[in-house]
Amino acid sequence: MSEDGREDPPGPGTIETSVVAMRFRRDPLGESFAMIRRYGDVICSRFGPWRFYSLFRPEHVRHVLQDNNHNYIKGELIERTKILIGDGLFSTEGDVWRRQRRTVQPAFDRRRITSLIPVITESAASTLDRWAPDVDAHRPIDLPTAMTALTLHVIGHAFFGVDVRAAGVDVADSLRVALAFVNRRVMVLFPVPMRLPLPSHLRFRRARHILDSAVTRIIDEHRQTGSETRDLLSLLLGARDPETGETLTDVEIRDQVMTFVLAGHETTALALTWALLLLAAHPDVEERLQREVGAVLHGRPPTAEDLPRLPYARMVLDETLRLYPPVWAVAREAIADDEIGGYRIRAGSGVAVNTYVTHHDPEIWPDPTRFDPERFAPSATATRARFAYFPFGGGPRQCIGGEFALIEAQLVLAMIVDRYRVVQVSEGAMHPEISLTLRPRRDIRVTLERTTETQ
Ligand code: HEM
Repeated sequence: MSEDGREDPPGPGTIETSVVAMRFRRDPLGESFAMIRRYGDVICSRFGPWRFYSLFRPEHVRHVLQDNNHNYIKGELIERTKILIGDGLFSTEGDVWRRQRRTVQPAFDRRRITSLIPVITESAASTLDRWAPDVDAHRPIDLPTAMTALTLHVIGHAFFGVDVRAAGVDVADSLRVALAFVNRRVMVLFPVPMRLPLPSHLRFRRARHILDSAVTRIIDEHRQTGSETRDLLSLLLGARDPETGETLTDVEIRDQVMTFVLAGHETTALALTWALLLLAAHPDVEERLQREVGAVLHGRPPTAEDLPRLPYARMVLDETLRLYPPVWAVAREAIADDEIGGYRIRAGSGVAVNTYVTHHDPEIWPDPTRFDPERFAPSATATRARFAYFPFGGGPRQCIGGEFALIEAQLVLAMIVDRYRVVQVSEGAMHPEISLTLRPRRDIRVTLERTTETQ
């Protein structure tokens, strides 16, 4: 009990926290619900003097991300990602963040995103063409890797006007190495100081150097050609803060480019990966989606006008993001004492809102593990609490690329379903593992075949 009478929430002590942390990575949902049954809706895990609160009730999520967001900064965990993304939009705070967000926001205006649709569909089509030899030879493809290559290609073209494939294998490989390193660093209780010359640190530094050089080259080329294209990089280079008229510095532009590439491609690739795996496991849903797509597209690439004609594709994606939210939790740090659910939240402690758990709460989602896109029919969504579903976070720090991601994923999913059908999936595909994102636990290989339209 604290001096002002509010109690600390119940939760595991140091030993139990260490055991749960180990098991959690493999079975995040099972462990979370076991803890909720044991301790209740607001849980405080202790590790020595360190405290970490876990929340999932929509009203508590709303409190942290929206209503009292000023009390919750990104904090220590997100600080650890700065070795890669620096001070970009995802990791900055306060006035610096506000200035950056104001400056880049126009690039995410719906009209501007819509104007990128031909670029998205062209680069997606060229990636899907590359799958054809494997499909025709009935050779399995590594789905998460193929999807990551696709979304990286799309982001390169749509945001920076570059062909990432032309930049060489090194860039894609370095991205993979750097991201995996940061993922691991965020998940450990005490990260090893970067100044120690461990092989993993050296590998990370090499990868970061390759990425930095690629980003600098892209920025220089854009400056020299004075590119007239309306991609995100041109906007970043020319952007002025509407209030002060200031432009972004070179370092800020580098950090933003890295942030957008990293925040924008793996997340969307995972959404598409999970969607295809779910379709493979639910032939009735796949068939209905195929009928919708076939009737609208007749084998041609989708356009902006097609988006409202593909409502079921969007429902499939929404339900996929419920079951497998690529960003499975949102982490914060409390800067002052607060009260949530009648309990005391102490200043300086970590707070996690667990999206994955909220999205599986049986009080909100009957039969929560069942894949049912009808949950996102317009009549069903109208009455749901705002923070019952938040794959893109919420409040002022809500994902800036959410609309782009949904449009890209809806277009790409329609294009894939129009061409290919998943006929075989390797064992254990639906078991997720958590790191910064929610990924399939194993290497997932799928065998595709052409749909009758494209045979
Ligand atoms: C399915 C795909 C995506 C998912 C699930 C996702 C999820 C999220 C979530 C949950 C947040 C909030 C994090 C927090 O509050 O701490 C976020 C922030 C962010 N996302 Fe996304 N995202 C996706 C796609 C994208 C794309 C395509 C881009 C870029 C084009 C992007 C760029 C960002 C940025 C820059 C932020 C930080 C925004 C800020 O703090 O102002 N994301 N994302």
